[in-house]
Amino acid sequence: MRKRVGILISGRGSNMRALIEAAKDPAYPAEIVLVVSNVADAAGLVFAADAGIAAKVIPHKQFPTREAFDEALDAALVAARVEIVCLAGFMRILSDGFARKWERRLLNIHPSLLPAYKGTRVHERVIAAGERESGCTVHFVVPELDAGPAIAQAKVRVIPGDTPEMLAARILVEEHKLYPKALAMVAEGRT
Ligand code: GRF
Repeated sequence: MRKRVGILISGRGSNMRALIEAAKDPAYPAEIVLVVSNVADAAGLVFAADAGIAAKVIPHKQFPTREAFDEALDAALVAARVEIVCLAGFMRILSDGFARKWERRLLNIHPSLLPAYKGTRVHERVIAAGERESGCTVHFVVPELDAGPAIAQAKVRVIPGDTPEMLAARILVEEHKLYPKALAMVAEGRT
């Protein structure tokens, strides 16, 4: 049985798209059954809907607390019988309760070689520090931000003269290959 996957996005959704494309292969061990965005005009929603995937907006601003928003997210995932959740450019911090409930079934992709460079403005900081390599990490989500165990990583060379945008673009190419591989590993219990 293919694992049922829900993807949470907030914007462009290019990683979501890579996962949807990978799951088109019937041999892929997971199927994407739901996409949820906390942002109504997230570009990724259009792609998901065009691909025939249930796409839902849950605007976080409509909820009085983080926990109430997360309960609505959880309810949508449960209703779709989701087994694994992938964060893909989802720009909300999840409550401890949500992270614990989905422990080992909740994945994120981060554009650095974690545990180095957690948080935001990663590429600026990598370049400012004179790093010679960077990359991306797919990891399990735990309550502490960007701190969960790594599932897979890909390295990218930092080239002299790189701007944050240039480095981000080269890392993104690797993200699109890495995330489908990492999700397949989790879906097959190979972690
Ligand atoms: C990616 O760089 C990802 O690593 C980070 O946010 C970005 C999302 O891009 N968490 P997209 O929405 O998947 O195109």
